[in-house]
Amino acid sequence: MSDFAGKRILIGLGGGIAAYKVCEIISALAKSGAQVRAILTEAAQEFVTPLTVTTLCRHPAYTDQSFWQPLYPRPLHIELGEWAEVMLLAPLTADLLAKLAHGSADDLLTNTILASTCPVLLAPAMNIAMWQQQSVQRNWQQVQTDPRYHSVGPGSGLLACDTVGLGRMAEPGQILPHLASLLHTAGKKDLAGKQILISAGSTQEYLDPVRYIGNPATGKMGLALAQAAHQRGATAQLVHGPVHWEAPLGVQAVPVVSAEQMRRSLLEYFPAADWIIMAAAVADVRPVHRASQKLPKQSLPTELPLEPVPDILAELSCLKRPDQRLIGFAAQTGDILVPAQRKLVEKKLDVIAANPVDQPGSGFGSDRNQAILLDHQGRQVHIKPCSKLQMAHALFDFIQEL
Ligand code: CTP
Repeated sequence: MSDFAGKRILIGLGGGIAAYKVCEIISALAKSGAQVRAILTEAAQEFVTPLTVTTLCRHPAYTDQSFWQPLYPRPLHIELGEWAEVMLLAPLTADLLAKLAHGSADDLLTNTILASTCPVLLAPAMNIAMWQQQSVQRNWQQVQTDPRYHSVGPGSGLLACDTVGLGRMAEPGQILPHLASLLHTAGKKDLAGKQILISAGSTQEYLDPVRYIGNPATGKMGLALAQAAHQRGATAQLVHGPVHWEAPLGVQAVPVVSAEQMRRSLLEYFPAADWIIMAAAVADVRPVHRASQKLPKQSLPTELPLEPVPDILAELSCLKRPDQRLIGFAAQTGDILVPAQRKLVEKKLDVIAANPVDQPGSGFGSDRNQAILLDHQGRQVHIKPCSKLQMAHALFDFIQEL
């Protein structure tokens, strides 16, 4: 089942060019089985039409005109406010932000926000000078103090006004997982104050500048863990091997290539971390020799001398303080339970997630996963096939109960 199937999601579109990207978000949500309703402010209708949004939602879009029509048995803003499980305000304009900061309500969207209690995700987008205005920043700080409001972005880049800098709306790929997390936690920031260090992806052990020993891990499980940690209020650090995705906004990402680089980064961040989660598929061996120039085909060895790579998790386990939690992953084929139980004990872990990598639709490269979560006290929880984000939340719930 998708993260969104059957969920009731209300989108408030503000008047900014990024409204076109919100259409993409609405389309993705509707396709994944969510019930989507949308309210367009008057300015939003200058950028996208109610017809576009209606078609994508598979439901009539709401505007201020709907607010004043006597078509609904109860006031529309109350109906919509009570209906929504989560709300997204995107693009959040300076004007909309000011209204939120001051509890002002002069149209359907702002009245609906005040008439609801669900978590609200804010995705600001504006010109860099507008974003940096003291008044805008004051309003932004003000809404951050309200536990109802959660934020994603803005990011940096080329803006539609041809300036480069902070002000771009977060991409749909950043916003959608955040919405999914809010649905899972109902907006609770239960990991606030925690520092969570996560490793992700594969490592590459080079024989020469163009050839390496690696594995098919794509880092999606570690990415989901970083998203979930950040969205639940933790400070997340992500040490990752070569990957094809961008780290979530708000997460400190440290790219590495080899197991030795990953080891050094993890050792550096380890003392400050409360929870350390090794989701990376670290190499077990590397070539004994690394040539600095590309080896010609004729010079390639017919046998490759290899040496073991230090086990990072085992090393961290020797350094672990009683207040820290150390979590490993066991990527297994065949029997997943017995080898994972052995790794849990041998590496002195608090928790291990045993996940099959030989099942269709889970493991390396997949968007989905399944696992048996084990802790050092003998607790076992089976997580059925689900998205990697759902798996990340299930793992955090499991660790919280330690
Ligand atoms: N791990 C590590 N350093 C390594 C190898 C593995 O820190 N050099 C970590 C992984 O990140 C994972 C856990 O150890 O959290 C288990 O990894 P896995 O590959 O399943 O098992 P191994 O310990 O390498 O044992 P085996 O390959 O024999 O299954």
